[in-house]
Amino acid sequence: MLRLLPWKRRLAIDVGTATCHISVQGAGLVVREPTVIAFETERRRPIAYGSEAKQMLDREVSDVEVVRPLTGGVVADFDAAVILLRHLIHKALGHRPLIAPTVVTGEPTRATQVERRALMNALKAAGAGEVITVPRALAGAIGAGVPMDQPQCRLIVDMGAGATDIGVVSMGMVAAGESLHFGGDDLDEAIRRYARRRYRIGIGSARAEDIKIMAGALTQEMVGEQVRLSDLQDGDNNGGQKLEGIVELMRASLKPVAAEVLWILDSLPERQLDEITQVDSILTGGCAQLRGITDLLSEELALHFTPAPDPMSCTILGLEAILNDLEALSLDGRRFTR
Ligand SMILES: Nc1ncnc2c1ncn2[C@@H]1O[C@H](COP(=O)(O)OP(=O)(O)OP(=O)(O)O)[C@@H](O)[C@H]1O
Ligand SMILES: [Mg+2]
Repeated sequence: MLRLLPWKRRLAIDVGTATCHISVQGAGLVVREPTVIAFETERRRPIAYGSEAKQMLDREVSDVEVVRPLTGGVVADFDAAVILLRHLIHKALGHRPLIAPTVVTGEPTRATQVERRALMNALKAAGAGEVITVPRALAGAIGAGVPMDQPQCRLIVDMGAGATDIGVVSMGMVAAGESLHFGGDDLDEAIRRYARRRYRIGIGSARAEDIKIMAGALTQEMVGEQVRLSDLQDGDNNGGQKLEGIVELMRASLKPVAAEVLWILDSLPERQLDEITQVDSILTGGCAQLRGITDLLSEELALHFTPAPDPMSCTILGLEAILNDLEALSLDGRRFTR
């Protein structure tokens, strides 16, 4: 007989395109790792996980395949996702789970059946027992501190690496929303293409992300560091020439996001729209840190956006709050209110 009965642990897992967060009930956040895994090419054996694997991205190490299992906020490489999630769940619990843990996770707001199944099946194959899915816009709103017991509508936009989740939240539910397959990864890709088109310089996605974080901005006044062409590639002979045009590129790239939010707002009854205009709208996700993004969205949508205090943690904080109060979750994970 077992001397210590293994009690059933519950986990909150935010499987983000860029970062995976895991919280254990009672212990809080225990895992924050890039959603990246590296395999030895020939037999597809995993050789590195998370931050260690991320360091291998763009390096083109022979016999090593570096995989990001999620694209656009959804599971794209199922087997890689399972192996990575299994590793991270073991890391979170400190051991292989004796009893399959219940998992609360975020799914794309307005997820399709296929997207939901892929996420649930990947978590189950990685060792989860029951999997409860919650729309990411709802989890983000809870994590950003939006009260869940009030009827007034609030707009929340969560712009991560692969997806932008948009939700109009009221009474603990997403009254209207959408998930766009567009995020920071697409901004990185736009920078890559731009560098190739305008300057004939090929850069990897990690370098493009660095440029976005260092120099990316939505107004000229907010541009951070100046990037020079010599920073883009080793042995470049363009001397001190500056990389121009990033602000215009970022502004143009974000147009589809503003257009989608507008589409959702235009579908709302007038009373809900009035409520949204009376309070701050909230921007969460890593892209909330892009310089000038709240000003751009505020201007394009005639609203007032503020960034959440710790934008990259809102989803996991919301999932953690749900985990600690599962009784308050109803309507098959669609509503969270006491
Ligand atoms: N200071 C910064 N400025 C601009 N972008 C940033 C900054 N910091 C992080 N990002 C971007 O935020 C994105 C990651 O955000 P986040 O961690 O919210 O994504 P995720 O939750 O993993 O992905 P998703 O929710 O889309 O599946 C990346 O594209 C990253 O480059
Ligand atoms: Mg996210």
